[in-house]
Amino acid sequence: MEELQDIKSRFEIIGNNQQLNRVLQKAVRVSSSDISVLVTGESGVGKEIIPKIIHQYSKRKHSKLIAINCGAIPEGTIDSELFGHEKGSFTGAQSTRKGYFEVADGGTIFLDEVGELPLTTQVRLLRVLENGEFMKVGSSEVQKTNVRIVAATNLNMQTAIKKGKFREDLYYRLSTVELFLPALRERKDDIYLLFRKFAIDFADKYKMPIIRLQDDAVALLEEYRFPGNIRQLRNIVEQISVVEESRNISAYQLKEYFPNWNLGMSPAVVSSSSSESGDDSFSKERDVIYKMIFELKKELNDLKKMTFEFMGRKPEDQDASQYVEEPKYIEEETKLLPVSADGDDLAYARLTPKDEVYDESEFVDATNVEPESLSLHKKEMEMIVKSLEKYKGKRKLAADELGISERTLYRKIKQFDL
Ligand SMILES: Nc1ncnc2c1ncn2[C@@H]1O[C@H](COP(=O)(O)OP(=O)(O)OP(=O)(O)O)[C@@H](O)[C@H]1O
Ligand SMILES: [Mg+2]
Repeated sequence: MEELQDIKSRFEIIGNNQQLNRVLQKAVRVSSSDISVLVTGESGVGKEIIPKIIHQYSKRKHSKLIAINCGAIPEGTIDSELFGHEKGSFTGAQSTRKGYFEVADGGTIFLDEVGELPLTTQVRLLRVLENGEFMKVGSSEVQKTNVRIVAATNLNMQTAIKKGKFREDLYYRLSTVELFLPALRERKDDIYLLFRKFAIDFADKYKMPIIRLQDDAVALLEEYRFPGNIRQLRNIVEQISVVEESRNISAYQLKEYFPNWNLGMSPAVVSSSSSESGDDSFSKERDVIYKMIFELKKELNDLKKMTFEFMGRKPEDQDASQYVEEPKYIEEETKLLPVSADGDDLAYARLTPKDEVYDESEFVDATNVEPESLSLHKKEMEMIVKSLEKYKGKRKLAADELGISERTLYRKIKQFDL
């Protein structure tokens, strides 16, 4: 119990949910071994804290913890980033370079969004997991490394395996222990606790009085489904803290910050919060209709995203569903280099832009696109430019807002020659 409090205060984790507590305890238990851990759960549930805990409680804590966002690295460079390359192994490889698996020797590697790894990289990864062996790109010399791997994903891995996007053997190797973080709507008791913590944080950040919720707003907050989980809640609290003049927020004000709030609520809440819900059969029928609209909207969004993804993929790559993401919400700026040594401050390891190489065949030539989709391209390009401008070229933030992966955004920047 004391240990649990210790983890929570050390890593600033808010919440008292049973399932969350179990996951935190398990993370500490497994930290002393080198067992592979796969962290699962919806987008925004807090998966990134787990590798930090595991690293800090392990004997590796004085070595590096390197976080790699597998979804953000272009396919053409990922092997070289992870495993290094020999001088001259491809155009642009002017010198021999160490990969993260070599740099992190003795430490921990966090493979975030592991479901996005290309199949060829998955083969290399399996080998490292099995016997610690790897080869630099363009080299036939086998090297050894001693790293502990923690991976995370918000994809349904069984579906990815069925579709041939993810190797089953690798999945089993990665998920010796699986830690599942529950969605925020499954942790209703924690919602208000988190709200208060974020309200205090943002009041401090923006030097303003703390926002508070009226009783009806608390009830509304606890019934909302939070598709973007804690990230979305944090984002909403930040917006309210900055935008609202009054510091005592009503349900009416709060509702404005929930996208499609009534579609995101459970039907029971929608009907009970509606003033003229007298007739039972009518309200049941309406619930069904709400559900249908919600499902339709979701499908429409998925379709939109698939179309968006297709346009940046090779024509033979027909199945883009793996790349469809749940809507993401803006979070704090992802720091680039340097990689932290003690794991207290998890930063994503990235190459500097000048080191980035990619396979040109990856990108669809925009001039070959059929005429009817040209205007769509224009719109797409405008949106990309706008979001890049808004976030001053920070691809992660721009990609988050556009609802696409950073890798897709990278492709599109190349494709449109932006
Ligand atoms: N228990 C918690 N207490 C306080 N803040 C939290 C908690 N869990 C998550 N957060 C915050 O919520 C945000 C989202 O968490 P995180 O980035 O770990 O999500 P994720 O599960 O990795 O999502 P994705 O799959 O989209 O990458 C972060 O700002 C994180 O600090
Ligand atoms: Mg994450």
